[in-house]
Amino acid sequence: MYTAATERYHQLSYRRCGRSGIKLPLISLGLWHNFGSIDDYNNAEQMARTAFDLGITHFDLANNYGPEPGSAERTFAQILRNGLGKYRDELFISSKAGFLMWPGPYGEWGSRKNLIASCEQSLKRLGLEYLDIFYHHRPDPETPLEESMTALADIVRSGKALYAGISNYPLERARQAIAILRDLKVPCLLHQINASMLNRRYEEEGMFEYLDQEGVGAILFSPLAQGLLSDKYLHGIPENSRAKRNHFLKESRLTPELLAKIDRLNRIAQQRSQSLAQMAIAWVLQFPSVSSALIGASRPEQIREIVQGTENCTFNADELAEIDRVLKE
Ligand SMILES: NC(=O)c1ccc[n+]([C@@H]2O[C@H](COP(=O)([O-])OP(=O)(O)OC[C@H]3O[C@@H](n4cnc5c(N)ncnc54)[C@H](OP(=O)(O)O)[C@@H]3O)[C@@H](O)[C@H]2O)c1
Repeated sequence: MYTAATERYHQLSYRRCGRSGIKLPLISLGLWHNFGSIDDYNNAEQMARTAFDLGITHFDLANNYGPEPGSAERTFAQILRNGLGKYRDELFISSKAGFLMWPGPYGEWGSRKNLIASCEQSLKRLGLEYLDIFYHHRPDPETPLEESMTALADIVRSGKALYAGISNYPLERARQAIAILRDLKVPCLLHQINASMLNRRYEEEGMFEYLDQEGVGAILFSPLAQGLLSDKYLHGIPENSRAKRNHFLKESRLTPELLAKIDRLNRIAQQRSQSLAQMAIAWVLQFPSVSSALIGASRPEQIREIVQGTENCTFNADELAEIDRVLKE
């Protein structure tokens, strides 16, 4: 039976999520890839245990993670049953609903019907009594926002989740959702958004400043741009990489222009005595409203490398300017 490392809270630091009582580790682990029923269970379990042993308390799921959809939640349930679950009060576990999960008109988007049924399903698959945070996974252009946000608030009030969150909401829609949740007295804990050196959309629209003012935490997913922000693609496409194995990262993204940029970023990282993956994480953690960088991994060593890299999260002005120049060219 698994026993967690006694030194687990000496490796990482923790940041408060906006104006809330919750702190998250600088690094969180997402189970979007490599935790499905098609993946190697032992590797998945080793990754989750390695993460927790390094002080990663936050594990991020969604109803549709797999493949097949739902199977990442089942895998995590098994990992919990096999020992991690005895640390339930030390864990912060999320799930989400909004993307297609079951056939018919209620299996996706943001109706009360979809969100409440989906939360029930996730709890059953995970074998848990409650989630720490339940998110609306993507904005729904048709359902009134009041309906989706009231469903989230009711999920929290019913005790099925402790906190509510939103994901992938652009600035104006996020403003509205956060205001509704505040009126319902269930404040939004986190906004989960895609941001990295290769995706500066939310930074450019002023999302980080806005969340800071509102006291809502930002948790950034795909901070390694699915692995592009590492040195692995500089000399071809490795067989065991996401670009080779998974349609979510298409080989066609690896243009000569992008590879030249990655090569230059890699040199800056080397000057800082870091790997590019470590520097990419340090870079997203520079924004004060960012509570955590939500990474994925395909093997335990990657998680160790990323956690180790958080020892050097500061940049001098010259480094930041040089990175900016590379990114804007
Ligand atoms: N809310 C949303 O809509 C949404 C959307 C997407 C993701 N997410 C969440 O965010 C999590 C992370 O997303 P992501 O997997 O795209 O994140 P990511 O951290 O940008 O990419 C993870 C991939 O990068 C590579 N990698 C990790 N550590 C590495 C290292 N030290 N050196 C070299 N390569 C490394 C691995 O790819 P290889 O397989 O090539 O080794 C790994 O699978 C997901 O699991 C999910 O929980 C949320």
